[in-house]
Amino acid sequence: MIQIKNLSKAFSGKKILDNMNISLEKGQVLSIVGPSGGGKTTLLRCISGLETMDSGEIWIDEQQVDPTKHQEATSQIGVVFQEFNLFPHLTVLENLMLAPTLVTKKAKEDVEITANQILAKLGLKGKEKQYPFELSGGQKQRVAIARALVMHPKVLCYDEPTSALDPDLRDSIAKTILELKDEGMTQIVVTHDHEFAKKIADQLIEVASIQ
Ligand SMILES: Nc1ncnc2c1ncn2[C@@H]1O[C@H](COP(=O)(O)OP(=O)(O)OP(=O)(O)O)[C@@H](O)[C@H]1O
Ligand SMILES: [Mg+2]
Repeated sequence: MIQIKNLSKAFSGKKILDNMNISLEKGQVLSIVGPSGGGKTTLLRCISGLETMDSGEIWIDEQQVDPTKHQEATSQIGVVFQEFNLFPHLTVLENLMLAPTLVTKKAKEDVEITANQILAKLGLKGKEKQYPFELSGGQKQRVAIARALVMHPKVLCYDEPTSALDPDLRDSIAKTILELKDEGMTQIVVTHDHEFAKKIADQLIEVASIQ
């Protein structure tokens, strides 16, 4: 479903990712664990097009994609960043609606229906008009997931989804990831947390060991 072939990336001559290969079937969860500075965030930035690759290819459904071509990337690979990156001046619903109305030029009414369905699915009904500062850490994270899902990505990636959460919420994000898996979502999860990684993963990669 998604193949990453021989991805390499160096910063100032120092190899961060060296010929990395990933192959995932639809609905599989890949956990990537490794030490700080091992290149986990860099990998997600490369596959979501925020960073250019030095070499390598990304294939989704037997087609090669260039994630730096913005529209193509946003519709196929979603990323939930560690800091969530919600827009502070927009409500929850506005945060969800911004990208689909701007990037895909879909009708506002249709986007709103989808956005509300996704919010309800993630347990955020009633939060539509609130601003990010009015939400708990776990709620902000679920809004960030909802905002990625509203673009109907084929692959959803998470950068350290448990780092800002206490242990109860850690279980709840694991549950959300497994529910999305049951619906067929292919997911890549970058984390320091070995126990969490094992709990959710079909495949596990240690970043340090492939460098
Ligand atoms: N834009 C950049 N320019 C130069 N060096 C960078 C850049 N982005 C990352 N690096 C370097 O690449 C290495 C890998 O960084 P990265 O953020 O991918 O690590 P990480 O595995 O996500 O670490 P952590 O677990 O602490 O989040 C680090 O040494 C970092 O300093
Ligand atoms: Mg990181």
